[in-house]
Amino acid sequence: ILKVGVFTSGGDAPGMNAAIRAVARSCAYYKLECFGIMRGYEGMIDGDIAPLDARAVGNILQRGGTVLKSARSKEFRTPEGRKKAYDQLKRHNIDALVAIGGDGTFTGLHKFYEEYQVPSILIPGTIDNDLSGTDYTIGYDTATNTAVEAIDKIRDTALSHNRLFFIEVMGRHSGYIAIHAGIAGGAASVVIPEETMSFDDLYKILGEGQDTEKKSNLVVVAEGSKIGDAHTLAKKVAERSSYFDIKVTVLGHLQRGGSPTYFDRVLASRMGVAAIEGLLNGENGVMVGVKNHDMVYSSFETVIGKHHEIDAESMRIAKILSI
Ligand code: F6P
Repeated sequence: ILKVGVFTSGGDAPGMNAAIRAVARSCAYYKLECFGIMRGYEGMIDGDIAPLDARAVGNILQRGGTVLKSARSKEFRTPEGRKKAYDQLKRHNIDALVAIGGDGTFTGLHKFYEEYQVPSILIPGTIDNDLSGTDYTIGYDTATNTAVEAIDKIRDTALSHNRLFFIEVMGRHSGYIAIHAGIAGGAASVVIPEETMSFDDLYKILGEGQDTEKKSNLVVVAEGSKIGDAHTLAKKVAERSSYFDIKVTVLGHLQRGGSPTYFDRVLASRMGVAAIEGLLNGENGVMVGVKNHDMVYSSFETVIGKHHEIDAESMRIAKILSI
């Protein structure tokens, strides 16, 4: 392997730049050439590819977003699109790929790998923390910290008015951000897709008319909730009773931005180095991950489309502490 192409794809995540830097600098360290592919698979198809040397990635470690930009490519889902992408890689003599992204990126790369066998490694970069094969994905820690900061602020105003807030967080089909932001933010309840909680269960937890000294209630709702999003749940509670003064805040894309935490920077740095060292050691068709603090490689087949289960302990303590 002599020339490595690196790209970011799917939803951006804080720490992606730290990963790009680590890939480019590891390439320089091991005397490989590194190329940055812009806008994920879109840029691969268009040949939007440029050299990325060690100095080109200076001063990006601490920045959110991705300097290589990102996209969700429709064309790459077609055989013709993938053929165009392969031709562009050949034109640039790129003989290995490092993809930084989430499940969608992964699915695309898997297909491409089956068709063209370009040596490939995936670095998990998504705020959702929904990929199995790693305890943490890049961006998850930062996004959850952002959510906790927002929850703390909402708590101040909720308390001042004795209000019930439904706060919706991202995560697609995963409740990871919700469960941990809920625990860290002291939520009365956390609604996540992984748990079977009915609307009635939730309503009971809110404690209408109960003689309690609780002056505010915060409910954290994962966007993938199976019993309705934050607005729907708020509406249903309001329809059942006028007891609560209800407000809704959807945190949305602010969870994707901002400077990465130290945790995400270190994780991204480790994963970037592990990706290049893995390629040099013959790892191929794998995702880099961290398990119990160690770097691990898992084959595409064992991680693709597999849900990252939320640990039972987190769900249990969220319940105990909301009493
Ligand atoms: O996968 C990251 C994520 O932010 C999800 O949490 C969310 O469901 C989705 O991307 C939003 O996608 P978009 O930015 O395309 O609206």
